[in-house]
Amino acid sequence: MKNIIIFGAPGSGKGTYSDAIVERYGMNHISTGDTLRNEIKNGTEVGKLAKELIDKGQLIPDELMIKILANTYDRLPQGLGVIFDGFPRTIAQAEALKQMLAERHHEMGVMIELIVDEETLMERLLRRAQIEGRADDNAETIKKRFEVYHNQTEPLAAWFEKEGIRHTFTWEGSKDQMLANIFAFLDTLK
Ligand code: AP5
Ligand code: MG
Repeated sequence: MKNIIIFGAPGSGKGTYSDAIVERYGMNHISTGDTLRNEIKNGTEVGKLAKELIDKGQLIPDELMIKILANTYDRLPQGLGVIFDGFPRTIAQAEALKQMLAERHHEMGVMIELIVDEETLMERLLRRAQIEGRADDNAETIKKRFEVYHNQTEPLAAWFEKEGIRHTFTWEGSKDQMLANIFAFLDTLK
């Protein structure tokens, strides 16, 4: 499978659909959010900085994030394709990803954009808070994450459009339908 960049607001389902895609196509999955939460759990220096920023709903600096991403990417088995979940989140990260892949003679593949209305996103994240207790899943931090998404990440959609790899999927009330639409598209790429 080609590389896939899964893109969308907090709670849009990046992690959920990534898991389903991995199960169907057997790909590698990099979630930069999971990577950072792991650093926090292990009490590393990166983890200490990440905790401070994640708790405020802010982004980790580009330079550090790009370094972490490249390290993670180079440790994965080659040839399966990778789902990038939560990366890139800024134009600088997108440019860096494109360059990093080009240096390795790999391609960005396709970008899957998930569009979900904000009320649904908030409901999902508050529900998840009760189940998983993620530190950034409280109403105040969620609002900050939405704001950061709109200001810093959403403009990237146009960047992907220019690259000619943007594919948008809009939530219409059914997870099964959403997955069927995504799979129907990905099946055409195999
Ligand atoms: P990250 O962990 O990536 O969080 P996020 O972008 O806020 O997104 P979420 O993981 O909350 O949501 P999701 O889209 O994965 O949805 P999910 O499938 O879980 O990043 C966290 C933080 O790390 C950032 O704020 C930042 O500080 C830092 N960071 C990460 N990457 C960075 C980067 N590149 N640069 C700088 N900083 C970075 O679904 C949500 C919930 O909804 C689940 O419980 C799910 O079960 C439920 N759900 C209910 N119905 C559905 C449905 N129909 N479809 C999908 N899910 C559903
Ligand atoms: Mg996630």
